[in-house]
Amino acid sequence: MTNQAKGMKLNIEGLRKSFGSKTVLQGIDLEIQPGEFVAIVGRSGCGKSTMLRLIAGLDTPSGGDILLNGKYTQQRINPTMRMMFQDARLLPWQRVLANVELGLLGSNSKIYAKQTALQVLREVGLEDRAHEWPSVLSGGQRQRVALARALASKPSVLLLDEPLGALDALTRIEMQQLLERLWKEQGFTALLITHDVEEAVVLADRVVLIENGQISMNVKIDLPRPRARGDAKFARTVERILDRVMGKQESLHQELLQSEKELIGESSYYLNSINAA
Ligand SMILES: Nc1ncnc2c1ncn2[C@@H]1O[C@H](COP(=O)(O)OP(=O)(O)OP(=O)(O)O)[C@@H](O)[C@H]1O
Ligand SMILES: [Mg+2]
Repeated sequence: MTNQAKGMKLNIEGLRKSFGSKTVLQGIDLEIQPGEFVAIVGRSGCGKSTMLRLIAGLDTPSGGDILLNGKYTQQRINPTMRMMFQDARLLPWQRVLANVELGLLGSNSKIYAKQTALQVLREVGLEDRAHEWPSVLSGGQRQRVALARALASKPSVLLLDEPLGALDALTRIEMQQLLERLWKEQGFTALLITHDVEEAVVLADRVVLIENGQISMNVKIDLPRPRARGDAKFARTVERILDRVMGKQESLHQELLQSEKELIGESSYYLNSINAA
């Protein structure tokens, strides 16, 4: 469900990106509501990270526009957006607390920065590790520190590029729950790239598939939260999206038509467009 949030609305209009003669994104149109959680899936190399970097202002589009709360952006890093990557990217020579304080650079008060960093570390369950070095933490703990750093400034958009990709299955599930809880509490708009369709269905209001440089599927997930992995409807949703990602588009399309009635009220599906390719 979409939060009633302070999150930012994003409108991506005709977004294109080429590297030399190679066109990676060729006209992405996507509207994301304030506080919505959108997952982006697609095969390796389809342009997911490129799209996120363009949204973050870390790279310049070859064409098209990105509007934030209805306004055209300058091509620069937006301070109300934060990004998380597969690796935590902590500074090894700074303790955990100082790493989180980095998310508050620009704050006038050192005391405020420290208190806020401690509070957000508490929210991710790591307050007692504040004075340790990143190197003594586990991979999952390091990602929680990265999440704390990203959220310390209460961003309005959180961009997540496979942040849980390197974690073991159990830690991953814990992190998904943490992410969902903090998203609900803080109400930021979230854009998550993931290769894990189950993760996308657990967390997202919508799952978007990028194929051939375009959005080829845009699926609304109406399953109630928290979503139970063992649930039959959950499993069916995952399977159908996975089939589509894997290219079994025809079978998915047929199946959707057949099961439309059955799913109404529980989970609704929209195939915005299906590439004929
Ligand atoms: N700075 C760059 N210069 C040249 N080519 C690039 C650059 N950045 C990305 N590309 C190319 O753009 C394509 C898309 O890359 P991108 O990293 O966006 O894919 P991805 O969908 O995130 O893949 P993965 O799932 O493996 O992370 C790839 O072919 C990549 O080689
Ligand atoms: Mg990538």
